[in-house]
Order: sequence, then structure tokens, then C-alpha cells
Amino acid sequence: MSFETLEIKADTKSELYETLQAQLKSLLEGERDFIANAANFSSLLYHSLPDLNWAGLYLRKGSELVLGPFQGKPACVRIALGKGVCGVAAEQRQTILVENVHEFPGHIACDSASNSEVVVPLIKGDNLLGVLDLDSPNLNRFDDEDASGLNALVEIFLKSFD
Ligand code: SME
Repeated sequence: MSFETLEIKADTKSELYETLQAQLKSLLEGERDFIANAANFSSLLYHSLPDLNWAGLYLRKGSELVLGPFQGKPACVRIALGKGVCGVAAEQRQTILVENVHEFPGHIACDSASNSEVVVPLIKGDNLLGVLDLDSPNLNRFDDEDASGLNALVEIFLKSFD
């Protein structure tokens, strides 16, 4: 298996996400370890999606989210459910797109370079496992197409472990 071909040529965002779905499936195929697959998932996103400064997971432990595998600068470790973009997305169990993080009440700034953010909850069965969090230095970097593309990728990730 080769891990060298992360550069993706795509004309449209939907083409990019289709290619990423195929790459993620092949990257996770044959491995059921949660941490290994979460680490490769965050790496694939960080190195394939343009204009990101952070990509990773927070994992739910009781009423907190705790930092999981990620790519980017060191980040805050614990986020209470309901706090920050991650905690709100987790509590509401909904994807949240933030055009400008400086206008989001209670946004938790881990990297001062971040200007926009998308957070997707990780829900397996009825269980809230955590969230996927992507940050961008660009304002308004993420749109509905990113939200649905990322949700499709999260589904592939959630099926990759027991
Ligand atoms: N900005 C997030 C905190 C996590 S960092 O972006 C990596 C939030 O407000 O929940």
C-alpha cells in the first residue's frame, strides 16, 4: 500500500470529496483500531483539503470532549459539552459551520491563525463519540458542500472500527 499520493487533482469540490471518500476507504480498509484510523483520518483531511490550519478529533469522555488524534498546532485538551464550537456541536449533535470564529459566542481559540471552522459530531448508533473539527485561516472557508462531504467521510470512519 502506498501513502504517498495525497495530492488530489479535482475540478470541483464535489469531485474532491468523492475522491477523498475512495481514499479514506482504502486507507482504513483492513484496520479496526480506533486510534490508528482516527489518526489517519485527520492526516488525510489535513493534507488533502486546501486552506486548513488544524484538523482533528475530540473524543467524548463523560461530560467533556478530550483532545484526540489531530494535525496542526498543539490545541486545548478539554472542552465541556456545550462550550465552544466543538461543545455546542456535540451537545446539539449537529454539524456547525462558523464563517467567522471571532463572532461565535464562546469560541475557544486554540490557534490564533483560525478564522473559520466546521465541526461534525461523531455519532455511532445512539452514542456520541466526539467531534471532528477543522479550522481554516480563511474567513468563510466552509460551506454546505463541505458539511455534507465531511459527513460522508465521517460515516466511512465510523464504520471502520467496532
Ligand atoms: N475552536 C474550537 C476549539 C478547538 S480548536 O479549534 C482545535 C472550539 O471553539 O470549540
